Amino acid sequence: MGYDNLLHLFLVPFPAQGHVNPLLRLGKRLASKGFLVTFTAPDIVGNKMRTANINISADLTPIGDGFIRFEFFHDGWNDDDPRRYDLNQYMQQLELVGRQVIPLMIKTNAEQKRTVSCIISNPFIPWVCDVAESLALPSALLWVQSCACFAAYYHYYHDLIPFPTEADPEIDVQLPCMPLLKYHEVPTFMHHSTVYPFLTRMIIDQFENLDKPFGIFMETFQELELEVIDYMSKIFPIRTIGPLFKNQNENVTGDLLTPDDCLEWLDSKPPSSVVYISFGSIVKLVQEQVNEIAHGLLNSCLFFLWVMRPPPRRISGDEPVVLPDGFLEKVGEKGKIVKWSPQEKVLAHPSISCFLTHCGWNSSMESLSSGVPIVAFPQWGDQVTNAKYLEEVFKIGIRVSRGENNGDWIKRIVSREEIEKCLIQATSGPAAVELKNNALKWKKEAEAAVADGGSSHKNIQAFVDELKRRCVGVASIPATSRDESAATKATVVGEELVNESTGI
Ligand code: UDX
Repeated sequence: MGYDNLLHLFLVPFPAQGHVNPLLRLGKRLASKGFLVTFTAPDIVGNKMRTANINISADLTPIGDGFIRFEFFHDGWNDDDPRRYDLNQYMQQLELVGRQVIPLMIKTNAEQKRTVSCIISNPFIPWVCDVAESLALPSALLWVQSCACFAAYYHYYHDLIPFPTEADPEIDVQLPCMPLLKYHEVPTFMHHSTVYPFLTRMIIDQFENLDKPFGIFMETFQELELEVIDYMSKIFPIRTIGPLFKNQNENVTGDLLTPDDCLEWLDSKPPSSVVYISFGSIVKLVQEQVNEIAHGLLNSCLFFLWVMRPPPRRISGDEPVVLPDGFLEKVGEKGKIVKWSPQEKVLAHPSISCFLTHCGWNSSMESLSSGVPIVAFPQWGDQVTNAKYLEEVFKIGIRVSRGENNGDWIKRIVSREEIEKCLIQATSGPAAVELKNNALKWKKEAEAAVADGGSSHKNIQAFVDELKRRCVGVASIPATSRDESAATKATVVGEELVNESTGI
């Protein structure tokens, strides 16, 4: 079967694992519903994807009723350019190049009879919506964090309620339809002291641009964040479509590192006996914290599987962290260290008892939807808010304590005693049983959301129908002859989307 009659969607992720994964999962889901999907990214991401996975190719890979393919572009810097390690500088370069290169890629696709009908991107690269607008193409956004965090950023951007300030950094925040967030539970990008001020700027730029996408698709599900989703859906055209990792085609995956084999090792362990530890793809722990985790694990006497990513290429003064002397000898068969794991499979493995995580939203959703309780060890950004929700709202987690409040709380080291205590609590005794039961309840809810007729399933179908309505007109107009007047601009009226040019 060819792709001649399929609408062509162009997907542009923020270049990081936590964004590539959900956008690629959405891409595969849409391909399976009868679209041609092109997934693009800068070469530095593309090369890693090609190395770590099969089927990352410009050729078509069939998925369900459609196809997926990949096209990467050069970011304009030499391979060894040290500026890449400065995300702030890199994001500026990516925007500069992306604004020029993506229209050219779309033009070339049209010349090769693959006219693009819609661009779908992630948050924090708001310029992609501008590119779509300049080409008179509809665009959509896949929001990859929780709806609660989306609501927090929205209220911050519009200055609707007081947030912590430089003068008053420790105020609590009450958002509509959300529990009171203590100052250290507010996404850290909203704090004056954030270590990533440029990410705050990107969030603001994203909210400035949110009238451009015709739809905002969220990697969450209705039952999980019911009230806040209802509330925000009255303001934005939100559709919840998660958890996207469920029921996925496995022919195409988007790892940036090759997963180590650890499933056989897990097979050798008793049911519900192994702690899984991972801090996602970005967080870097300081040496002292790694030492405390290592000793906490040893003292707990629990089996564990620990992901320790290889350090990025050395930046001067940035020493790679190491395990304490003699740690591996003491651990023996009790523990396994890997550089990268097949996380979805690990979390689905019956030997896993709990997940010690930094609470990135993907890891949180994957754990909750796999029925695995959490020891929450957040670092920054949305992770601190996710940790609060995992413990107090979803009730599947225990948060590690950083001790009494004072000063720079986020930098405080969590002690080995605290880590051991939380691991024991999450894996044995009545509290552990309750966490597990709650996690299994959410697993069921998540499965129901993506099953035929479930909330996320219906929303994906509605998205597909809407894409088809919006794109049919676009696809028939040659890319070169579209003008601004043909642009498909969406305005939100109540909960309805109205297309200004077609009235659909
Ligand atoms: C980033 C931010 O840090 C996070 O706060 C935000 O919510 C999303 O973007 P990251 O830190 O990488 O993400 O964490 P997370 O959101 O958990 O995403 C990591 C992804 O990598 C998950 O899909 C996870 O399954 C995968 N992973 C992680 C593996 O496949 N193997 C591993 O060993 C570790």
